[in-house]
Amino acid sequence: MKTFTSKKTLQEYLHQLKASNKTIGFVATMGALHQGHISLIELAKQQNDIVVCSVFVNPTQFNDPKDLEKYPRTIEADTKMLEQAGCDILFNPEVNEMYDGNEQWHLNLGETEHLLEGEFRPGHYQGVTQVVNKLFNIVNPDKAYFGQKDYQQFLIISKMVDMLNMPVNLVMCPILREADGLAMSSRNIHLTPEDRQHALVLSKALNWLKDNFDKHNIPELKQEAEKMINSEPGVELDYLAIADGDTLHPATENTKSIVALVAAKVGKTRLIDNVILVHG
Ligand code: PAF
Repeated sequence: MKTFTSKKTLQEYLHQLKASNKTIGFVATMGALHQGHISLIELAKQQNDIVVCSVFVNPTQFNDPKDLEKYPRTIEADTKMLEQAGCDILFNPEVNEMYDGNEQWHLNLGETEHLLEGEFRPGHYQGVTQVVNKLFNIVNPDKAYFGQKDYQQFLIISKMVDMLNMPVNLVMCPILREADGLAMSSRNIHLTPEDRQHALVLSKALNWLKDNFDKHNIPELKQEAEKMINSEPGVELDYLAIADGDTLHPATENTKSIVALVAAKVGKTRLIDNVILVHG
């Protein structure tokens, strides 16, 4: 695997590959890689000639400086995992390579930016689209792979790609779970053994929604799932939404694509998870 820290040298290298008609698959990450990320690399490998993975903890998407500071940074282990997975290129830039001073540009991403995660993490999706926009411009991938776990992020990146006519195909990859159902996340590292047990209520509530979707109406489903989560000690629910999979507005019985999304603090760690209830 080749590692680049400079965007210029990476671009020069990719330019040569593209000149020989190689297709490029891209996986953007903030490191602290787990099997979920590796599943994206594996799919990218199957579908492209060359796989590029970026590891960059993007400061502009953190609205809480403490969260940024404690975000796990494990580049040595990440590099090994990427090598083992057969990734071809790692892009691991410093902050000043990606941001030239204090950039203030803003994309009008529409109302989806301000719903759910956007309400609890104002400015988060501006930061995400800012860095993904830069990464897409540097790597110029044919396909880019993102996890379903950050469902809203996928919608918002799709919106940016459509708005800016970016020549990239986005691929949503399924959530990978631990054997007990916990969605894999770089943040799971911070869970104490007790938190880890309490956190299971999130995937249990989502599974319950999936299994009972045909048995109750949407308000009843939402109420019951919220009750399950609220009765778990150590878990503070931010939101549980049963939403339209395209707009994230509350779903009704007539909505074509329906997704249940949850966010909660478990101990000191904020986790998100979701399940698709009706495919559109
Ligand atoms: O999903 C993530 O890890 C990040 O939001 C991303 C897409 C790498 C942008 O920093």
